[in-house]
Amino acid sequence: MMLHIPGVLGPADLERARALLREADWQDGDATAGPLARRVKANHQLPLDSTIGAAVGQRILERLGETPLFIAAALPRRVLPPRFNRYEGGGTYGRHIDNALFRVPGTDDYVRSDISCTLFLSDPDEYDGGELVVEDSFGAHRVKLPAGDMVLYPGTSHHFVTPVTRGARLAAFFWTQSLVPAEADRRSLFEMDQAIQALAAEQPDHPSVAALTGVYHNLLRRWSQP
Ligand code: NI
Repeated sequence: MMLHIPGVLGPADLERARALLREADWQDGDATAGPLARRVKANHQLPLDSTIGAAVGQRILERLGETPLFIAAALPRRVLPPRFNRYEGGGTYGRHIDNALFRVPGTDDYVRSDISCTLFLSDPDEYDGGELVVEDSFGAHRVKLPAGDMVLYPGTSHHFVTPVTRGARLAAFFWTQSLVPAEADRRSLFEMDQAIQALAAEQPDHPSVAALTGVYHNLLRRWSQP
């Protein structure tokens, strides 16, 4: 499932994030790529110990906690601190699948990358190219969203970023380990959650709202791995 989540960052947060990131020390994306990824990766990233990255990332994590659509779709158990990249001057990242496990900085713990997210920090008219292309069994989906919007997709997907031929594309990206590891189970729960909410909005006292909510929780009980 791919999901567009609008307005994760509002105008004030965006402005602050972009001002901070302009002053940051960017490094060549090679530094964080494995030997295979290095052959396809041409961008800039913030070092993982960047204090600016930590500050902006913390604000993104706070906003995720206030974004019901993210919580319903991801059923997050752990979210890795966001990372940041910048593509310009033909920068690109070829077709790949992300690593399965990422170490949580400063700990011996790992986050399994069930879900990948990209939060766009540049508006589409600021650059040409720079589409995130995500492949699934129904084909390739091209994503280029307004600044502040986010796309969520399964960590199991092949994906790539097309070359940025004008301007600069700034984005945050991060991985989430879900309480529900299986993508098909997560999708069913999300669709059920959205249907229950639509029904509850129209007919809050309908007995099926409570009945379906009970089924939702019983499925979550079966499928979750807290
Ligand atoms: Ni990737």
